[in-house]
Amino acid sequence: MAQDECGCSGLDDVIAAETRLSSVDGQRGELIIAGARLDDLAGRVPFEAVVARLFAGLFDDAPSPEAVRASLGAARVAVFEALAPAAPALASLPPMEGLRALVARLPDGDDLDTAFALLAAPAVLTPALIRLRQGQAPLAPDAASSHATDMLRLTTGDAPSAEAAAALDAYLVTVCDHGLNASTFAARVVASTWAGLGSSAIAGLSALKGPLHGGAPGPVIDMLDGIGAPECAAAWIEAALDRGDRLMGFGHRIYKVRDPRADALKAAVRRLAAAQSGASGRLALAEAVEHAALDVLRRRKPDRALDVNVEFYTALLLEALGFPPDAFTAVFATGRVAGWIAHAREHRLTGRLIRPQSRYVGPRVAAA
Ligand code: ACO
Repeated sequence: MAQDECGCSGLDDVIAAETRLSSVDGQRGELIIAGARLDDLAGRVPFEAVVARLFAGLFDDAPSPEAVRASLGAARVAVFEALAPAAPALASLPPMEGLRALVARLPDGDDLDTAFALLAAPAVLTPALIRLRQGQAPLAPDAASSHATDMLRLTTGDAPSAEAAAALDAYLVTVCDHGLNASTFAARVVASTWAGLGSSAIAGLSALKGPLHGGAPGPVIDMLDGIGAPECAAAWIEAALDRGDRLMGFGHRIYKVRDPRADALKAAVRRLAAAQSGASGRLALAEAVEHAALDVLRRRKPDRALDVNVEFYTALLLEALGFPPDAFTAVFATGRVAGWIAHAREHRLTGRLIRPQSRYVGPRVAAA
């Protein structure tokens, strides 16, 4: 259906749920997660503590940050034991598809144990799938580690530096929830039918995979590699727009100003680059591409408010942490699954079946 016939094909500005979980102010560029501004969370509050805030009031027990850390560690071990044997058969698939197939094997309950298993799954299974694709055996989780520290060790095989663990933790917090984005909406629609949390997580994974949503950061790396040097950025971008391509990592449905998550992640990339030799050249290229893209987009699409989004600096950060580009979306899911679970529970507790209507524009049948 053409957008102007209905004015609602993208559900712009439609309020489809009430939530206490997060607030996205697209005019002011402000993100609030579980009652705190993103700037006061990312790099300051550990992922486990943010999960405790998101889950508060949604389950029979309200786990403390320490209880989340312990339960999540135990769940990583349990998920690995249950699902690692099935991973080799899926290693030929992109990690996001292998992850979705493995998550479908988890129980589809509605309780806190199910929530922790789903929360643990991407942090354990994504590294297992990455290693299998590189011809290496998956590694067993360490229940005592933080979620971010364990995910990095499971991926690279080495204990990460404190700076790398802090950077991944800040990333997981930055992306853990973001209003009624496409994947969270999909998770809530599924929860509204009273299907279990596993079904909501699979819906979330499926929606996140697309390049207009969580699939963008891999192509950002292709763009940076294609540009190669700062002085080539403007010409490369002009040629991409001439072909009718979209620039991955730019534009957003809600933000009409800069996405605040981009700056949170850029700060994390800067901190990491200061600790890693050789990483600052890539950051300089990315900054040159960002400036050239904003310049070209403002000139060529003056009626659109297009700025950098979360995915641009996601690509830089996850690359610096050693994740392969085809696994970036699965790493995104490692953080966002917290939001999917919280929204699914919130909808189950407070919402109704989501069942909008469509306007029929097909052929009319003659009256009998
Ligand atoms: N590059 C070039 N043109 C763009 C871009 C872009 N990144 N984004 C929007 N536009 C143009 C489109 O071509 C379209 O113009 P047209 O109608 O003349 O063809 C118009 O602007 C659409 O603008 P909006 O209505 O603001 O965009 P919409 O809300 O439909 O889409 C979206 C938002 C999907 C994020 C879009 O900006 C996009 O495709 N960006 C690239 C992919 C990306 O980075 N996705 C990650 C988003 S963040 C996340 O989901 C975690």
